[in-house]
Amino acid sequence: MKLTWAGLLALAGTAWSHAHHDEEVVPQHVREELLKKWNQEWSFTGHASFAHLKPIKCLVEPDERYDIAVIGAPFDTAVSYRPGARFGPRAIRAASARQMAGTSFNTRAGINPYSSWATVKDCGDIPITPFDNGLAERQMYEAFLELGTRTPTTKASSEYGTKGISAGKSKLVTLGGDHSVALPALRALYQIYQKPITVLHFDAHLDTWNPVRYSAYWQSEQSAFNHGSFFHKASREGLICNSTSAHAGLRTRLTGIDDSDYTAPGTPEQGFMRIHADDIDELGGPMGVVNQIIQRTGLDPDQPVYLSVDIDVLDPATAPGTGTPEPGGWTTREFIRILRGLEKLNIVGADIVEVSPSYDNKGETTALAAAQVAFEIITSMVKAGAGEDLGGWYGRKESVIAAQETETESVPESKPETTAEAESIPKDEL
Ligand SMILES: *[C@@H]1O[C@H](CO)[C@@H](O)[C@H](O)[C@H]1NC(C)=O
Repeated sequence: MKLTWAGLLALAGTAWSHAHHDEEVVPQHVREELLKKWNQEWSFTGHASFAHLKPIKCLVEPDERYDIAVIGAPFDTAVSYRPGARFGPRAIRAASARQMAGTSFNTRAGINPYSSWATVKDCGDIPITPFDNGLAERQMYEAFLELGTRTPTTKASSEYGTKGISAGKSKLVTLGGDHSVALPALRALYQIYQKPITVLHFDAHLDTWNPVRYSAYWQSEQSAFNHGSFFHKASREGLICNSTSAHAGLRTRLTGIDDSDYTAPGTPEQGFMRIHADDIDELGGPMGVVNQIIQRTGLDPDQPVYLSVDIDVLDPATAPGTGTPEPGGWTTREFIRILRGLEKLNIVGADIVEVSPSYDNKGETTALAAAQVAFEIITSMVKAGAGEDLGGWYGRKESVIAAQETETESVPESKPETTAEAESIPKDEL
């Protein structure tokens, strides 16, 4: 059956045609018919919203509510090398096209984050000025505070939603933008949670540089705000918890002729534990990295964690489209495994930054990785509020693993241990 708009209008009858001009009342059955006919998306159709989530400019819709909002921060006038990350949000949205509510069951996590309890929306972009970084900082802070203080869809009293300090609070996942967008995000989180935030920072670089690293002679207030120094600023402002924060994936060159960037006492970088990209070998793989991180950050439901992912934590072979690439990083698979291992962290906000599409390739390798990182983070946020134990990696329940470790000869009947078994069809169904 081929129906045009004109055809539908005719079906709706003359009463509506008249009302249409006066009050714009569309009869319910017409709406329902339209939804049945057209409310479908293919992975390659639609507005370029993240994961085909409902796109709304939440900043101008004060009644708009969500549990988790994806928000773009297209800002890149604080970079030190290749610019272009202002186009990151667009590229990540485009690369998220194969994430749809109906087809997004995360097998590693055992939950579909877009078809669960949480209302997840794409709140569009913050219209950030590219002409004045001081003003840009203010715009981002105000936007993050406004969106982060919206009453969420899920009430604190619900069986769903995160418990602890973030109960009854909405959460933001920011698509950058260069990495300096994390400073206004942390300022807003500090306001919302009224305490220093644990920062888990995945990056090739420290980003805690004292601004004099770039030029000791030519200094201004604005030159201190850039994508390599914002954690220094954030630390000096007391926004970062010094005893629980960590860098992971480091492989940057340092200044000078020794490692005094690491060892000089009293510098903010001392507030971060450091895990280097190469440590993954000594630690026995991704789960070793996970254990180190959890030892440092803890799993306290009353301590808020901000997860900040610079896509350059990945090797340039895996993610070439970025502002300051450093060879020798983790693969996408290793990093996904690390992120999944961290799903129990009390993540109250996150960013994925430094995707610079003009240096990406035709296969959108970098943007795809970034979209996947966002998917894993949103999965963890939703899973944390699922109201039941969904098991860990590929649905393995911790109690089952513990039982298997003690009773080696009799394997308890429950979830299978390995992925291969988990995906095989039970014998009695063959
Ligand atoms: C963390 O350490 C830095 C540098 O010593 C200091 O300026 C900052 O206030 C400390 N932050 C907190 C939250 O105590």
